[in-house]
Amino acid sequence: MHRLWTARSAGLALGLNLVFSAHGRILTSNAQLLPTYDYVIVGGGVSGLTVANRLSEDPKNRILVIEAGDFDQDEDSILIPGLAGTAVGTQYDWNLTYVSNPDAGDREVSIPQGKAVGGSSLLNRMTLDRGSSADYDRWSALGNRGWGWADLFPYFKKSETSTPPSDELVAEWDVGYDESVHGSSGYLQSSYTPWIWPSTKHFVSALTGLGIQIPHDAAGGDAVGGYFTPHNQDPATITRSDARRAYWTAASSRPGLSLITGRRVTRLITKQTAQGAKVTGVEFAASEYSTPKVVKTSKEVILAAGAIHTPQLLQLSGIGDPAVLSELDIAVVADVPGVGRNFQDHLYIPVVFSCDFPLTAANLTANTSFAAESMALYNTHRTGPYSDATGDFLAFLPAESFTTEAATLHSLAKDQDSTTYLDPDTPRSVKENYAIQHALLTDGLIATDQAQIEIIWTDGTFITGLQHPFSRGNVRLASKDPFAAPLADSAFLRNPIDVKILVEAIKFARSVVQTPSLAAFNPVEAAPGADVTSDADLEAYVRGAAESLFHPSGTAVVGTYELGGVVDTEFRVYGVQGLRVVDASVFPMLPATHIQSSVYAVAEKAADAIKSSS
Ligand SMILES: Cc1cc2nc3c(=O)[nH]c(=O)nc-3n(C[C@H](O)[C@H](O)[C@H](O)COP(=O)(O)OP(=O)(O)OC[C@H]3O[C@@H](n4cnc5c(N)ncnc54)[C@H](O)[C@@H]3O)c2cc1C
Ligand SMILES: *[C@@H]1O[C@H](CO)[C@@H](O)[C@H](O)[C@H]1NC(C)=O
Ligand SMILES: *[C@@H]1O[C@H](CO)[C@@H](O)[C@H](O)[C@H]1NC(C)=O
Ligand SMILES: *[C@@H]1O[C@H](CO)[C@@H](O)[C@H](O)[C@H]1NC(C)=O
Repeated sequence: MHRLWTARSAGLALGLNLVFSAHGRILTSNAQLLPTYDYVIVGGGVSGLTVANRLSEDPKNRILVIEAGDFDQDEDSILIPGLAGTAVGTQYDWNLTYVSNPDAGDREVSIPQGKAVGGSSLLNRMTLDRGSSADYDRWSALGNRGWGWADLFPYFKKSETSTPPSDELVAEWDVGYDESVHGSSGYLQSSYTPWIWPSTKHFVSALTGLGIQIPHDAAGGDAVGGYFTPHNQDPATITRSDARRAYWTAASSRPGLSLITGRRVTRLITKQTAQGAKVTGVEFAASEYSTPKVVKTSKEVILAAGAIHTPQLLQLSGIGDPAVLSELDIAVVADVPGVGRNFQDHLYIPVVFSCDFPLTAANLTANTSFAAESMALYNTHRTGPYSDATGDFLAFLPAESFTTEAATLHSLAKDQDSTTYLDPDTPRSVKENYAIQHALLTDGLIATDQAQIEIIWTDGTFITGLQHPFSRGNVRLASKDPFAAPLADSAFLRNPIDVKILVEAIKFARSVVQTPSLAAFNPVEAAPGADVTSDADLEAYVRGAAESLFHPSGTAVVGTYELGGVVDTEFRVYGVQGLRVVDASVFPMLPATHIQSSVYAVAEKAADAIKSSS
């Protein structure tokens, strides 16, 4: 005790933020670093902490995680489900925006990204669902052996400990659960909300009244229709379970694992060998004003910086399309044309009706005594509005479920030249990959086993998300300065098919509120507005209102080199030894779901790939 106290006061006297005992592996100064680690992991978010945890199971591995952000301080905005998402725009957010988009009203749409131990799992809305088996089978259809649904399914299960819905929840909401599709010994806690906003009931009956099916448990690969989703939530405390609290905490006392925060990796160090380029270490710095530091690696560098910063780091290190690198005079270390291409994100548009529901989330802001009572209820009984991250019942709909225009959309897509809406400087191999994707996307428009739109319902607001965008953007450097934000172009709505799908989705939302279950609450359309009726006006609304659903991916895609792949099926970057990418950058095509469970599953798979080759 005395020694601890002395050490703490010494630490304070030195102005150091010393952390003790249970967190002995958190390094607080560069002086504590070893010169060499077996594995250096760049980014301590969802994928980085998953891989760090699994590699540290072997005590012989010396592993360093370098994270640009800091630890959160157990703020309510992080922990309380009813406040999920409110850490967006704080110090835990990179505060990025996409470049101005002529196809979305020349707006710079914001794209929050987590900057903390836990990454975006601290900012996210806690929806823990999975896509349809057909969505992942496309990944293997693109030539990636071992990347289909049947291959990934065991990793989805491995990542979670799932708790079934309570008897009360089943009795009141008829939430289906199939134990066989869930995990029972993973690090991430998956559980159902104890309480659901009451207007959800009317949305569920409106959809079932329209013939929308409810799969018994959508997590088994049958994620089409309407369903109640689990959350990344600890069922005992009703607080967020995230990559820090799940994967980091469980591994933090393992001897070989170290983490340093507040350091931004600025460059990969490479050397040329007879077999080509090889990564030997990474350079990082606390800020643009501090002296950069280098740590070496004896085995591998593992990129887990997320789909926007991973391609930035590759390009800063001379790994990418020579034509793009030469614009900034960056010497080519490895010619990998796919880096930064194939960029995809889910986007949504709101369709808003005001309804006479007796109790909605708006009561929390309008009525301070109701808010205070609700917080007291959460604090004492862990139920009520603050126990609910919202988005409990989700609809994932194939085209035929929400529009009579599926065949028209399909023939429109069939008639497209797949290259028309790609960036003019897209490399040939990337175009060839996209041609295959385009054919799969086209088939999807008349398929019934995969969803084209998602609807998240809150009290009359339809958050309507496009699930299989045809548009592809890119991420490239703004400058050679590693502290400058990269230029990320989401290309939202570049391909007119994406716009048309959302126009049809607005019409569907209008028909949903006209069903007896919702018409009883006198819905009045606030956006786009009842007077917005022509397809041209609806299109203009879509372009002006589109926002991100926070799922950037695809910028260091798995695939053959000939088809624009950046990593092979073992996550190894082409042309560079000792380098892997394990984050959402490797996704070939977005699945119709919120993507964190897929990121955890893919990172679990990556950890196995790394272990089996070491
Ligand atoms: C606001 C928001 C809401 C979301 N809601 C949901 C949801 O409800 N359900 C769902 O399934 N998914 C949701 N997501 C998506 C999900 O959280 C992400 O897909 C997932 O976290 C991606 O994991 P990742 O490992 O690729 O990146 P991240 O988890 O973002 O981790 C990347 C880490 O790398 C660090 N880093 C970046 N560059 C560097 C560098 N140069 N040096 C050192 N460190 C660096 C970052 O600081 C970060 O910690 C949401 C995301 C956001 C932002
Ligand atoms: C993001 O913006 C908020 C609010 O302006 C600010 O407090 C925070 O420090 C910013 N984050 C970063 C990483 O700069
Ligand atoms: C919630 O808001 C509605 C509509 O304004 C109101 O009728 C109702 O009394 C409110 N209930 C509470 C608990 O604040
Ligand atoms: C505010 O909420 C309280 C319950 O906390 C309720 O009794 C009261 O009627 C509500 N006020 C309004 C104006 O709805």
